[in-house]
Amino acid sequence: MDKERPMRRVSDSVVEQVQVVLSCHINGAGRLFGGQLMEWIDVVAGVVARRHSRRDQTTAAVDSLQFREPVHVNDTLILVGKLTYVGRTSMEVQVESFVEALDGSRKLVNTAYFVMVALDENDHPVQVPGLILETEEEREAWSAGEKRYELRKHRRIENY
Ligand SMILES: CC(C)(COP(=O)(O)OP(=O)(O)OC[C@H]1O[C@@H](n2cnc3c(N)ncnc32)[C@H](O)[C@@H]1OP(=O)(O)O)[C@@H](O)C(=O)NCCC(=O)NCCS
Repeated sequence: MDKERPMRRVSDSVVEQVQVVLSCHINGAGRLFGGQLMEWIDVVAGVVARRHSRRDQTTAAVDSLQFREPVHVNDTLILVGKLTYVGRTSMEVQVESFVEALDGSRKLVNTAYFVMVALDENDHPVQVPGLILETEEEREAWSAGEKRYELRKHRRIENY
């Protein structure tokens, strides 16, 4: 790793966002519209990347977007975004969405991985700070993120 590269903790850029699901967010099947959830997730991922890089950034890829449970009107939705991996200019952000019950318990409804790329003043990719891993969970998330990074690279090469 670059000796001069600044480093930041995962906890420095964590984002938690709360939404109460309203009738305007519901689709014809009476469930939360998936595109609405994706918009909320996109904002959370963008703010995580912005806090880490202190740069503008753009979304390069979205994957592993899995919907596990339906979400209904009046549900309290909690979105938690955190960095799992950083390359040179890219950052992988995991966003988990939970429905929170009245007793405070949370049920996971969605997991997404966004790849955000930091941009300089001329809109070119620019190096981001490295990531300080402090817990076993963060180290495991990093290894899984590194595998996804390599997989995405292979996929891009295959698509050329
Ligand atoms: C993302 C983007 C800036 C990458 O530009 P590029 O010229 O390909 O730059 P590079 O090849 O140097 O790649 C920069 C980083 O992006 C990553 N990257 C590029 N394309 C990617 C893709 N399809 N999936 C995942 N990561 C990608 C590279 O791995 C690299 O990361 P690293 O520095 O950590 O190794 C450019 O493709 C772009 O502007 N795309 C449009 C993004 C956009 O408008 N998003 C909004 C969608 S509505």
